[in-house]
Amino acid sequence: MSLFKLAYEALMCNEINEKIRLTNELLNYHISNNNVNSKFTVKKILVPGRPIKPNLIDFKGSPKRDPSELGMIKNIHAICHIEFNAINLALDAIYRFQEMPIQFYIDWIKVATEETIHFSLLRKYLQTLGYDYGDFDSHNGLWQMTVDTDYDVLSRMALVPRVLEARGLDVTPSIKNKFKHSKFNEMVGILDIIFRDEIGHVKIGNYWYQNLCSERDIDPIKTFDSLIKKHIGSNLRGPFNTEARLLSNFSQTELDYLEHPELVNTN
Ligand SMILES: [Fe+2]
Ligand SMILES: [Fe+2]
Repeated sequence: MSLFKLAYEALMCNEINEKIRLTNELLNYHISNNNVNSKFTVKKILVPGRPIKPNLIDFKGSPKRDPSELGMIKNIHAICHIEFNAINLALDAIYRFQEMPIQFYIDWIKVATEETIHFSLLRKYLQTLGYDYGDFDSHNGLWQMTVDTDYDVLSRMALVPRVLEARGLDVTPSIKNKFKHSKFNEMVGILDIIFRDEIGHVKIGNYWYQNLCSERDIDPIKTFDSLIKKHIGSNLRGPFNTEARLLSNFSQTELDYLEHPELVNTN
């Protein structure tokens, strides 16, 4: 089976354990066969494979802070949902952009399989607490950026790993702190694993973004700025985790841009 067809089947699979199994099969596929010449039809995917539950709803405004026990469990569930979406997101990058060098697929297979680990760690922890993935309403909007950037691999690399996953790096330390001082302190170890791996995911996004910009001979910062304006409409919100972003290969110039986007705006 072609790599792209396998990624598509994993992406569209609604059953959680089967999706994880198919995603991990990509790892074997790649090791045994480096051939990515066998293409597969690319379609727009408005709804990727997911179980019937959780119920998806539009959350208006920023999430409510709920320090109660149930509030903390809902928080764990929300992170679990993000990781579930991250599996689909990595699979879509493999399936959709079929003209990339082999290393691109090696990188995104690594991301997809690590997302299955993140999801499983959180799901297992929810189960030990007497809950499961699907028990609470979840955010409907997480797939949208994937759909919005399905027209170009450069936009996808700019906005999914470098904006959404990088945002995770910014907020994880404070989330971790909140769990540390609660009865759910097992989350600290899980978030450490996620944080470490996510630095790698953002690094992969940065690598391919820079690579595509230099291939097309366009300025990475001005291009990023115009993509942010086009897709998000406002400047990215800090505070930014400078240390983690530098570890994921954001350059100092890019970090300066994030802090002062108006310097690019006036050019
Ligand atoms: Fe993750
Ligand atoms: Fe990730």
